[in-house]
Amino acid sequence: MSVIKVAILGFGTVGEGVYRTIQSHAEELTSVLGRKVEVAAVLIKNKQKTRDIREDVLITTDFAEILNLPQLDVVVEAIVDKEQPFTFLNQAIQSGCHIITANKEMFAHHGNELLELAENYNVSVGYEATVAGGIPIIQTLRQLLNVNRVRHIQGILNGTSNFILTEMREKKQSFADALILAQEKGYAEADPTNDVEGFDAFYKTMILSRIAFGEQPNWKNVERAGITSISRELIETAEKMGLRFKHIASISKTGSQINAEVKPVLVGKSHPFYSIEGVENAVNIHSDIVGSITLQGPGAGMYPTASAVIEDLVYVCQNRSSNKSITKTTAACDGEKKGNEKELWLIQGLSKNYNNPLITWVAQASDKIAIIKATKEEIEKLINLKKATCYFQIIGEYDTEIKNKEVTLAVL
Ligand SMILES: NC(=O)c1ccc[n+]([C@@H]2O[C@H](COP(=O)([O-])OP(=O)(O)OC[C@H]3O[C@@H](n4cnc5c(N)ncnc54)[C@H](OP(=O)(O)O)[C@@H]3O)[C@@H](O)[C@H]2O)c1
Repeated sequence: MSVIKVAILGFGTVGEGVYRTIQSHAEELTSVLGRKVEVAAVLIKNKQKTRDIREDVLITTDFAEILNLPQLDVVVEAIVDKEQPFTFLNQAIQSGCHIITANKEMFAHHGNELLELAENYNVSVGYEATVAGGIPIIQTLRQLLNVNRVRHIQGILNGTSNFILTEMREKKQSFADALILAQEKGYAEADPTNDVEGFDAFYKTMILSRIAFGEQPNWKNVERAGITSISRELIETAEKMGLRFKHIASISKTGSQINAEVKPVLVGKSHPFYSIEGVENAVNIHSDIVGSITLQGPGAGMYPTASAVIEDLVYVCQNRSSNKSITKTTAACDGEKKGNEKELWLIQGLSKNYNNPLITWVAQASDKIAIIKATKEEIEKLINLKKATCYFQIIGEYDTEIKNKEVTLAVL
């Protein structure tokens, strides 16, 4: 029986998970692919670390040695940073290998070049693990895009941020304490900037945008905010008003314009993300035929991420064109119109006596926190005039009739 030879770049959480899953699910892989899958080589950085890898596997710090193997079919990239992995994958494609990556930062930056190069060399690119870990969002979108027109995608795409927000609400912890716990549990890096400032979710959103709408928006026009401005007081007040903070990425397309934003917002009980807690991720796709679909599951971790990579392994070995559905859908979408309509906002610092005919008071939660209805422009004016200190959009349905023992909402 012929064999599919795989090289794994990186032997950390993801790389090791992929290696182990190829061993543990060898039978299933052979059965679906009609060929045995074998790990031929592993690329690492530090040769001194002890690793539980079979003796017949080449372990090297030199990618050239991997490319020189007599047979190599697939290169799985699970390392960090963006330029070096991009170079490795470029070389792999030019050597005729299919490639699979889990590296969202690299793929958000260089995905287009890799996909085009792969098309020229007639090889496939798998990148399921770059977005929402184990949730098969990319394959689902590809399947859906055969005929459906995607209107709008929303996602909780960063498990670390969701974990911190959940801890702050449930255990009444400060942001700093919740972050330390996330680091102790291995959810957050020593430098958590990518997670808590929204960069990680931003990269994933750009990757989703390319699949759903055929292109990425201009990065400079995308609002990106993390969760660092959310205090425990805001979370508690929001909770009393039937709302929860969630860090949500959102993309839609109107005409030729892609609207994307990645920021903390508030959702009420009827929103599908209200109950997404801890490190879970979720993605909601709204498309014209099927309506609204929500997928929920583990957004990271050794085996959930390995699952995404292994599904890609099957996908690329069946040599599907990674660009096929993308080009077709480019002209087909007509997302939600984003005008200057009034929306609901939770706003902090606005004086109760503040009178402005353009703003509608909806509910007063505490001395300094209220819900108002206004356009985004008006809200930004209030901030510029220092009438308020911060604001968060409420998305989805919000029931202003909510009453709570501790808070009397002045519903106006
Ligand atoms: N962890 C997750 O749950 C998850 C989920 C989805 C996507 N991802 C993405 O997957 C990638 C890997 O994540 P991870 O959590 O597995 O990282 P990790 O645990 O830090 O492991 C990184 C691995 O890459 C190796 N490496 C780093 N730079 C290298 C270089 N220049 N040349 C050769 N090897 C190099 C390291 O080698 P040494 O062992 O020798 O140090 C290590 O084995 C990242 O891009 C990440 O964003 C991770």
